[in-house]
Amino acid sequence: MRISLSTDSFRTTKADFLAVSAGTAHVDKDPALTALAKSMGGTALADAIKDEGFTGKVGQVLKLQAHGRLAARWVIVVGVGKDAGKPAAARLLGHHVAKASQRQRSAALILPVDDAESVRQAAEGLLGGSYRYDTYFTGSRKPKGGLKSAELLVSDAKDPALKDGLLAGRAVGEAVNVARTLVNAPPNDLTPPALADFAATEAEKLGVSAMVWDKAQIEEAGMHLLLAVNRGSSIEPRFVHMKWEPEGATRKVVFVGKGLTFDSGGLCLKPAKSMIDMKCDMAGAAITIGVVLAAARMKLPIAVHAVIGSTENMGGADAYRPGDIFPSLDGKTVEIINTDAEGRLVLADALAYARELGGDYVIDHATLTGACMVALGQWRAGLFSADDELAERYLQAAGASGEAYWRLPMDEELRPTLKSPVADLKHTGSAYGGAVTAALFLSEFAGKSRFMHLDVAGPSFLDSAHGFLPQGGTGFGVGTAIRFLEGLLESQAD
Ligand code: BES
Ligand code: MN
Ligand code: ZN
Repeated sequence: MRISLSTDSFRTTKADFLAVSAGTAHVDKDPALTALAKSMGGTALADAIKDEGFTGKVGQVLKLQAHGRLAARWVIVVGVGKDAGKPAAARLLGHHVAKASQRQRSAALILPVDDAESVRQAAEGLLGGSYRYDTYFTGSRKPKGGLKSAELLVSDAKDPALKDGLLAGRAVGEAVNVARTLVNAPPNDLTPPALADFAATEAEKLGVSAMVWDKAQIEEAGMHLLLAVNRGSSIEPRFVHMKWEPEGATRKVVFVGKGLTFDSGGLCLKPAKSMIDMKCDMAGAAITIGVVLAAARMKLPIAVHAVIGSTENMGGADAYRPGDIFPSLDGKTVEIINTDAEGRLVLADALAYARELGGDYVIDHATLTGACMVALGQWRAGLFSADDELAERYLQAAGASGEAYWRLPMDEELRPTLKSPVADLKHTGSAYGGAVTAALFLSEFAGKSRFMHLDVAGPSFLDSAHGFLPQGGTGFGVGTAIRFLEGLLESQAD
């Protein structure tokens, strides 16, 4: 979709749709609505609002024809509830306009505020709302229609702050959609080598360096836990390290992602009902790739690394077994308990690698535990860190991005449940607090780095749409990570 800034007036823009947000049914409560109502003549807008029962509730959409009173053909009013008059309304506006566009090809948006944040949120909303996963449709199910272009009506289209807002909105919106598409891709096509190739190809376009290790190189490096998980699969694993390193960066953040392109459970096989969605088990990797690509597009003056361990978890003849013991990259030995707890093994090696990179923070995203979904529901991610400052900063970034996180405890009382009688560590601890014991296991491999684990098992992939999150792969996580990086820059400026 083409998104541009325009100084057209809402009266003269020739878009198919002229879109405006509203928090109530009262036209005279909002200056933009009042002006629009006047241009439409008489009581046309107020009557339509009344007749259609429009109240301004979030997500309500009212479409009416402009009947030649405006250059645009249609007017669309989007309910934004209590966000009326705030930049957050721009995201709802963009989202619902994109969703409501069937035959309409172009839209012009009246922003709730004439500022960079509204421009950014409108762009994010438009891109997110227009997302469809249609790669595998043929014939009549091939995509038709949808919005092709959108103008954001502003007072100064050359204002550098507004242009930056548009660039940020586009970078984040598109990175979210990239993450969605990776998650939605079927596991027979999106194998670990395919995931790594995608990361390397996209990185190159943006001046991001990408190092990809094949199985022989992973063996040479000594990532025996990643290799253990890979044993039951006939497809090779990959290890990926991407770097966005702008000149003069004084901060560095290392993101780590779980890249299980399919998780059957291994020998501890999942029941069919739990296995059906397990192509989503590389969502952490998809988020991680999305974040580094968005940071590069925004040219954030901060070093951002992406470290990904990728494999399938399958039950082939050579599959790893409960009772096996393997050494990790950092030398600690791990006794395998349940082969379905594979994510923490892959992450253990990736974290042991990441902690050596000298970042200010090491942050992983992983679809790690069903227990986290039991604790928080499917729309909220679990946040684990022993570092209060880091956790607080991240929760603040989540507030700005509109994603839902909840901090759960790194409860040291549970750590002894990870003790093994025959190895340094058991790889699963107490099932009560299963999301916590998984986080504690990971922390064993993060060394002294300022570490945070984000369990995105719930919100990465949904059976049905919820708020801004679509059905299927959601791209959840990218927006908050980028806001967190921007927050680091602001705190640096103080
Ligand atoms: N990939 C799953 C976790 C998951 C579950 C992600 C549902 C998305 C939706 C993970 O590898 C897993 O199987 N975890 C086990 C751990 C257990 C065996 C200790 C779980 O949560 O049951
Ligand atoms: Mn599993
Ligand atoms: Zn898994």
